[in-house]
Amino acid sequence: GIKIATIGGGSSYTPELVEGFIKRYDELPVSELWLVDIEAGKEKLEIVGNLAKRMIEKAGLPIEVHLTFDRRAALKDADFVTTQFRVGLLDARAKDERIPLKYGVLGQETNGPGGLFKGLRTIPVILDICKDIEELCPNAWLINFTNPAGMVTEAVLRYSNIKKVVGLCNVPIGMEMGVAKLLDVDHSRIRIDFAGLNHMVYGLDVYVDGVSVKDKVIDLLTDPNNSSFVKNIEGLGWEPEFIKALNVLTCPYHMYYYKTKDMLEKDAENAKSEGTRAEVVQRLEKELFELYQDQNLAIKPPQLEKRGGAYYSDAAVRLITSIYTDKGDIQPVNTRNNGAIAGIPDDSAVEVSCIITKDGPKPITIGELPVQVQGLVQQIKSFERISAEAAVTGDYNKAVLALTINPLTPSDTIAKEIVNEMLEAHKEYLPQF
Ligand code: NAD
Ligand code: G6P
Ligand code: MN
Repeated sequence: GIKIATIGGGSSYTPELVEGFIKRYDELPVSELWLVDIEAGKEKLEIVGNLAKRMIEKAGLPIEVHLTFDRRAALKDADFVTTQFRVGLLDARAKDERIPLKYGVLGQETNGPGGLFKGLRTIPVILDICKDIEELCPNAWLINFTNPAGMVTEAVLRYSNIKKVVGLCNVPIGMEMGVAKLLDVDHSRIRIDFAGLNHMVYGLDVYVDGVSVKDKVIDLLTDPNNSSFVKNIEGLGWEPEFIKALNVLTCPYHMYYYKTKDMLEKDAENAKSEGTRAEVVQRLEKELFELYQDQNLAIKPPQLEKRGGAYYSDAAVRLITSIYTDKGDIQPVNTRNNGAIAGIPDDSAVEVSCIITKDGPKPITIGELPVQVQGLVQQIKSFERISAEAAVTGDYNKAVLALTINPLTPSDTIAKEIVNEMLEAHKEYLPQF
């Protein structure tokens, strides 16, 4: 059978993943699921691990669930390694979201200063995991869900010896589900041609049963209720002139770049009232883990849908299944560019529709991106590349450079001030600086 090792197993998303394995057991016979966490996640790991065991027992499947702090034992001979850990936990995320606001800059988990610092904390850990993989399960596929997923995948591609890595985000699948809902058709009939970067992905075209419906969908994106496909970002709607001329589908994160002022104001307001997203999620998590503890619960509770990562299990398990069965279907993932998008380095991670086989994702050739989106994609890729370099080297100047060239930062001086305050706030998790 198949051995899966999940790092950050105490995550509230684990029941999603387990539900996915149960649903696809016929195609993907998992025999062992190893949930790995750290001491600080002990309680979560136990609660979520026991729910996973009940779910599997209820489904009547012979999947062994192991809960452990011993990452090496979990990785030994694993076939697939999935990563969903959060270095510094939600307290660190709350700092990423609050500190930049003091400087009039957006505080967000994967964009701007928050994205940079989540990367700086996460990349040393993922590279360490890669060393273990090299030694203990060199043939395994690493499926990385840990944010910032694009930057983290980029770091693995460029700074580790692991080649079998795929970065995964639920945004593309969320966009397909969202479009299906807008058009009131089954999601299996929708296909989007994705190209760009993680949280900077565009739908170059969108089809129902192979027929383009792009113009219609773009019209619908002017409605605030339609313009976000994730629970963690409120849609604000697009100016019809802008979105029609842009002529591609946006992802929810584009609102931070094309509506910077409005999003910053809204997030600053929220921080004062309900709290930042991390603080909201802390309360949500409490609610979720109380539910998870109910010994009669043996399904993924619907309340998990209040988290931004909906459809994660679908995305992760269908990806693993297609690699395992050599399916050759098309899925949007983060992978090595290899020339698929012109103007992005070959060795960089891009998020693009790929053909998925036993050899992993093969990106569909895009060529040049439309001129109206190409510049921003390249700029964010430069930000990600320099951020990853700073994370690996601990080069302070590079950290300041990365943040300064990010379009969400108004000046080099502000970038430096934010970097200084955040280096201090997160120093426990930044051994490289
Ligand atoms: P979480 O705060 O619940 O953390 C998950 C677990 O990771 C915790 O139990 C924690 O103890 C553990 N952990 C922390 N450091 C660890 C380490 N060094 N080794 C092993 N485990 C460690 O986080 P969450 O909200 O469930 O999110 C998990 C991760 O997935 C985050 O990085 C988040 O950004 C990411 N995420 C990605 C997407 C996507 O689209 N790619 C969507 C949702 C969440
Ligand atoms: C989105 C993104 C994730 C992000 C998450 C946040 O869907 O794709 O990358 O981390 O949701 O959700 P949360 O509930 O933690 O705010
Ligand atoms: Mn994502």
